[in-house]
This record gives sequence, C-alpha cells and structure tokens, in this order.
Amino acid sequence: MTDAPPPGAPCPPIRHLTAGEAAALAHGRDGALAGLREELRVNFARGPGAVVLRGLDASALGEAAFAVIVASIGRWLGAASIQSPAGECIARVEAVPGEAQARGTHSDSELRAHTDLHDILALGCCRPAVAGGESFLISAPALYQAIRREAPQHLPALHEGYYWGTNPVLRSARRISTRKVPVFFPAAAGRGVQCAWNGYFMRQAALTRGEEVPPALADALAVLTLEAERMAQEARFMAQAGDIVFWHNWSWLHGRTAFVDSAAQRRLLFRLWLRSELPPRADPLLAERANFIDRDHALTRQEGMAMP
Ligand SMILES: [Fe+2]
Repeated sequence: MTDAPPPGAPCPPIRHLTAGEAAALAHGRDGALAGLREELRVNFARGPGAVVLRGLDASALGEAAFAVIVASIGRWLGAASIQSPAGECIARVEAVPGEAQARGTHSDSELRAHTDLHDILALGCCRPAVAGGESFLISAPALYQAIRREAPQHLPALHEGYYWGTNPVLRSARRISTRKVPVFFPAAAGRGVQCAWNGYFMRQAALTRGEEVPPALADALAVLTLEAERMAQEARFMAQAGDIVFWHNWSWLHGRTAFVDSAAQRRLLFRLWLRSELPPRADPLLAERANFIDRDHALTRQEGMAMP
C-alpha cells in the first residue's frame, strides 16, 4: 500500500514493496508484478505523478542488478532516452572529482529546484552519501499558487516564458526552441498547472540569441527561485539505499542538497529519462524539448563533441 502523505507533508508518497514484489523484481518475474505495474501507471495517468518505491535491498542486489530493476520498472511507464553522447539509457549519478563539465550528474553540489526535459524521471538510490544529498520535489501547482498569492504581478512574464537552448558542447541541428516555452502553463484536461523551469537551458538560449533574459522575466524568476527555495526546505527527504523515486517532470520541480562522500561510501544513484504518454501533456513544446536533446545526444554520439 502507498502511504498517503498527511496534508502539508512533503511529497512524494512512499509505496512499500511487499516481500513478494521485491523478490519478483529481483528475479525479473514481470508476470507476478501486474498489480504494482498498474498501480504505478494509474499514479502517472490520473494520480499525483510521483512515488517512492521502498523495499529493495540494493547492497544485496549489487549495482548492476539494482540498475536493471530500475530500468525494468521504467519500461512500465515510458521509453528510456539516452542521457549523453555515450549513449547510456541508465546513467550513474555520482560525484566525479576533477571533472570540468560536472554540472549535476557528476558533481556533489547543491542543485536548486528545476525541471528537466523528459516526461517522467527516475532516480534509484544505490548508496546514499555519508552526509547531505537530500532530495526534494516541489509541486508545480503549489508553487504557482504561492506566486499567484504573493506576487501575482509576475505571472504574465512567467506565462510568456522564454526560449530554451541546448548544451554548447553538443552538436545540434537546432540550438533554440521553436518558440518561447512558458514557465507555467495549464495541464491537459483541466488538470491544474505544470511548470518548465531550467535556468541553464534558458541562459544558453539567451547566449545563442546574443541578448539578456528579458528583465521582467528575470525579476519573476528571482521571486520564483526564492519561493521554490522556501518550499524545498519543507519538502526535503532522504532517499534510502534501495529507494526508487519516480516523478512527472512537468508537475514537480526537483533538486538536492550538496553532499559529502568518503572513500568507503560514495553516493550513487541510477537515473532514467522517460518519454511517456501517460501523464497529461498540454503543450507540444514539452515533447519537443525531449526530442531535441535526444537528437543532440545522438548527433554528438555520431560526430563527436562540438567543442573540446
Ligand atoms: Fe535535474
């Protein structure tokens, strides 16, 4: 059963795996998992679009088997995209000391609230950090309502949004989105509000266009960032070894606190980026985001990096 979070409590809800489900996952017995599969699909099609699966013993399984389980559950929800020019569909998220282009995947830094590019994201915690590395998910509708309540003058700029660019080291047939991507937009079928907010891709678009992000939007995003920061403080949770967190990218902003590794224990998560038709999606630009980055990664895989 899924523990429903009490009102005001941090999400996501925790779904405890039964011993039978954990064993079926460990042995790849998909036929014994129809109930869990349906429950997760309903969660994303009609429910909150976020869940923590708890009950796998990651250390007993080992890294490779745990990663296979994360990927196999992901296939119930969508199609996995490659996550870099290396072509991996399940990525290792871990600090790699000295990596110049570390950004989020290979750094131990704080990651502030943001959305990524695919519909459903997953992180399976193989090993937590020695200290820090708390995760958080912030509800896009809750963030929207907070800004509407406290600073409604910024909503027009957030509804208008801005272009999204791409990573400059990637080859790309199209470096900027075909039109502006709204930061907040209505979900399909009257299902609330969704959010697309990633400062990195927005800044890359501004650089490519040779301009600044418009001042009205920059002011609005400063307010959004502060509000998201406040909400993140209340929404932090520590993923345990064996936990797998799935969430709908456009309904939840995500991030993490900085963390510390030791020689004996290095934080390791396995990540999925899934394209999925399950959650409501109102704006075709969201599918475009995933298509563009997938194509950039595939092109760069064939032709090599655009810059050293
Ligand atoms: Fe992210």
